[in-house]
Amino acid sequence: MSLYEKIVSGEEKIALVGLGYVGMPIAVAFAKKVKVIGYDLNSEKIRLYKDGIDPTNEVGNEVIKNTKVEFTSDESRLREAKFHIVAVPTPVNSDHTPDLSPVEGASRILGRNLTKGSIVVFESTVYPGVTEDVCVPILEAESGLKCGVDFKIGYSPERINPGDKVHRLETITKIVSGMDAETLDEVAHVYELVVEAGVHRAESIKVAEAAKVIENSQRDINIAFMNELSIIFDKMGIDTLEVLKAAGTKWNFLNFRPGLVGGHCIGVDPYYLTYKAEQLGYHSQIILSGRRINDDMGKYVAESVVKKLISADLPVKGAKVAILGFTFKENCPDTRNTKVIDIYNELGEYGIVPIVVDDTADASEAKRLYGIEFKTMADVKDMDAVILAVAHDNLKGISKDTMDSLYNPNNKSRILADIKGILNKSEYTDTDYIYWRL
Ligand SMILES: NC(=O)c1ccc[n+]([C@@H]2O[C@H](COP(=O)([O-])OP(=O)(O)OC[C@H]3O[C@@H](n4cnc5c(N)ncnc54)[C@H](O)[C@@H]3O)[C@@H](O)[C@H]2O)c1
Repeated sequence: MSLYEKIVSGEEKIALVGLGYVGMPIAVAFAKKVKVIGYDLNSEKIRLYKDGIDPTNEVGNEVIKNTKVEFTSDESRLREAKFHIVAVPTPVNSDHTPDLSPVEGASRILGRNLTKGSIVVFESTVYPGVTEDVCVPILEAESGLKCGVDFKIGYSPERINPGDKVHRLETITKIVSGMDAETLDEVAHVYELVVEAGVHRAESIKVAEAAKVIENSQRDINIAFMNELSIIFDKMGIDTLEVLKAAGTKWNFLNFRPGLVGGHCIGVDPYYLTYKAEQLGYHSQIILSGRRINDDMGKYVAESVVKKLISADLPVKGAKVAILGFTFKENCPDTRNTKVIDIYNELGEYGIVPIVVDDTADASEAKRLYGIEFKTMADVKDMDAVILAVAHDNLKGISKDTMDSLYNPNNKSRILADIKGILNKSEYTDTDYIYWRL
């Protein structure tokens, strides 16, 4: 009997190592079909899950309450499983080099609890070579087992999009890979249990690792191009989104828009690729220049708002500015790696302490990471400028009357920075608004 068959028959279990935005939806999906152990190092998180609370909002409290996933922070329970999926973070250090410590730590934990005949599949986004050259030696050293003989490995990158209820684990083609043909078959069959869209069998583990890292690098570069256009067109007094709307009528014009690039994927993964390239003697030109542009956009937005204040004869120091939206992306509570903090900090350099409102965001996380205490919309009064920073659904629906009520009625001009262009611009032009967008 293959491992896949034993999993389907209930004889063997799947274990998830790392239950965050990626690991939790996978655990929940598999638990609908087979036995699943959900392990996380963070016992507080496990406690929340056991209480039926989903802090990521990816699957929702109801699903967590009803799932059959056996949640645990006891690593020894990993011994009960033979098919392991690792979904731990892969951040970068402050110098933009890969921080592999969570992947290494997970490999140590798993290695200590690995049994003969297991398959380990990494899902974390990495540069080509991490699975085989970094994780395997740790798994072997900790377990005393030999990779390829006693256990096998694979890699299957995650492509989910937090907050996106359309593109989900089940509906996105899953890239799978394995160290040999037999492992590839097992890995493919296991994922086919839950991925309705099917799997793509990559030629090798390194190919699968590379595919993931370039998907996000490509996105980053394309957004950087849009951001550069936005800076150029602003100087020309042309509205970038109108230019894109016109250019987008050509069949092969790519549909990207300018914006802040935060989060743990698009703004981070390209550095994994450039780091490895650098080690091999190649200094990236395109990828890193894209990164530089995108990393500077928060500062650019803040400077643009300051210029608008000056053009409206409003004092900059001490100006009353509200930032609406703080998360790294729309309709998602995650504030880690948000670039809105760059706007906030840059405005601080000009003596402006903005108030921040975000009903979608994880307020305790924002307080812990940035020391920012969110306000409510009722606190947004007598403003000189308002920055709509994130395209949350609740902000998209904001009416002109509500916008009007946020400003100081004594000001001659109302400065509105609609970064993502979510408002109907025509309502704000030819009025006392100074409307600006990327
Ligand atoms: N979030 C996304 O949208 C997304 C999409 C595609 C790929 N990815 C990639 O997936 C990986 C995971 O991302 P995420 O967003 O789920 O991260 P996350 O921070 O939401 O979750 C990771 C979980 O791993 C746990 N963890 C850390 N070290 C551990 C260890 N040694 N043992 C067990 N658990 C450990 C953490 O406590 C946390 O709960 C990253 O490599 C990321 O780049 C993320």
